[in-house]
Amino acid sequence: MKILLTNQFTNASITESNIIMNNSLILPRRNFIKNVAIAGAAISALPLFNVRAQGAGKKFKVGLVGCGGRGNGALENHIEAAKALGHEIEVYAVADFFQDRADATAKKHGVPADRIYLGATGYRKLMEQPIDIVLLATPPIFRPTHFEAAVNAGKNIFFEKPVAVDPVGARKVIELGEVAKQKGLSVVAGTQRRHQGSYLRNQFAVANGAIGKIVGGTVSWCGGKLWFKERNPGEADDSYLVRNWTSFSEMSGDHIVEQHLHNLDVANWFLGRPPQTAVGFGGRARRQTGDQFDFFSVDFNYGEDVHIHSMCRQVSGTYGNVSEFFTGTEGNTFGGGKMSSAKLASLKVPEFKTHENPYVEEHIALLDSIVKGQPINAARTVAESTLTAIMGRIACYTGSIVRWSDLATKTDSPWYNLALSPSAADFENGTVVAPKDNVVPIPGEA
Ligand SMILES: NC(=O)c1ccc[n+]([C@@H]2O[C@H](COP(=O)([O-])OP(=O)(O)OC[C@H]3O[C@@H](n4cnc5c(N)ncnc54)[C@H](O)[C@@H]3O)[C@@H](O)[C@H]2O)c1
Repeated sequence: MKILLTNQFTNASITESNIIMNNSLILPRRNFIKNVAIAGAAISALPLFNVRAQGAGKKFKVGLVGCGGRGNGALENHIEAAKALGHEIEVYAVADFFQDRADATAKKHGVPADRIYLGATGYRKLMEQPIDIVLLATPPIFRPTHFEAAVNAGKNIFFEKPVAVDPVGARKVIELGEVAKQKGLSVVAGTQRRHQGSYLRNQFAVANGAIGKIVGGTVSWCGGKLWFKERNPGEADDSYLVRNWTSFSEMSGDHIVEQHLHNLDVANWFLGRPPQTAVGFGGRARRQTGDQFDFFSVDFNYGEDVHIHSMCRQVSGTYGNVSEFFTGTEGNTFGGGKMSSAKLASLKVPEFKTHENPYVEEHIALLDSIVKGQPINAARTVAESTLTAIMGRIACYTGSIVRWSDLATKTDSPWYNLALSPSAADFENGTVVAPKDNVVPIPGEA
């Protein structure tokens, strides 16, 4: 992969902290408009070609929890980001539920055997190590627990989306994000669209009025089926669930949370607020294991007469579409694609010259923020997008209208305290009971 010269990067970490991270989506709309205006002013004042290699030559010790497809990918992205900035990475420790996974990553990166940690509690030992940065890439069920351990241990954090599978977990991540802020830790999430030049440009333009006021839109992740794993003869429940995690909503949050979150995150980002209500339906046509749906269709009401239609599907041989599209009073735009706007040419939209690979750019932002001592923190935004997707899932599983307040503030709502079972603690305590395969929620009864 081509590595861009470091002086071609704009300072996206400052950009993010000013524009994205500080705009709590729980803020009322009035405040959001004010904040966007302030953010717009702040970014206009930024030098466009800020050199991000300041303080090059640093060495960071990194630990990885979850040595699967994305964990290994994130580690490679992290190393590439460090190289682009002139820093060095030592992969100091790894943790995985399974020995073969951990061993393979350790071997590749020269991690000694005594710094390989296994099982559901292995992450705890890893957090005790003198590492500067931890990458968290297990299935989503474990994210709040691992995030808590990382924040308590004072590590800078990259964590994959989604960051929870239930409202209790998502709110915990929001709270811990505030603790991380107080500790001056950087927290970057695997919502790579927020680190992609085309998306950053469009979001900036929209926030500065390029398409007027957003009045509606669609977001979708419709694609083919993912892998699934049959249970091995005599296999324990915890092992089966870890291997087959994309089939169980208790492990993944269901695919509206696990995959479609990316597009819902863009909707929240562009609109500057989470939805107020969700109503939808979904079902299951082809899955052979687990308890997830195959498809969802949700009407998210963002208030002020703005509706975003969300759809996601994991059924091979059907029409595929992964995108976001927003209609405004004065134009329209795709999330990171074509924008129709008469105003665009007159707006001073920065170039946001990010790394060509947004997965690498995430780690450039993380490392750069640490070196500069300007922590960035995506905990709240990714947790609120996770909560948005969870809201859609509950609406479809139950057939009910679900309000943001049911999950975020209304402590007597039946969904406020929803915590799925088995939990991360069950894995650590050896009390996992796998949900039944092929038993799915029935709307109206669930
Ligand atoms: N940002 C993106 O585009 C993107 C892409 C793919 C996956 N992801 C996310 O990354 C995460 C991991 O996905 P993946 O595709 O790598 O899955 P995977 O199954 O390939 O890897 C998960 C790894 O975590 C390990 N693990 C499970 N429980 C553990 C525990 N308690 N402690 C330590 N290790 C544990 C597993 O053994 C496995 O090696 C998911 O949250 C997924 O949504 C994000």
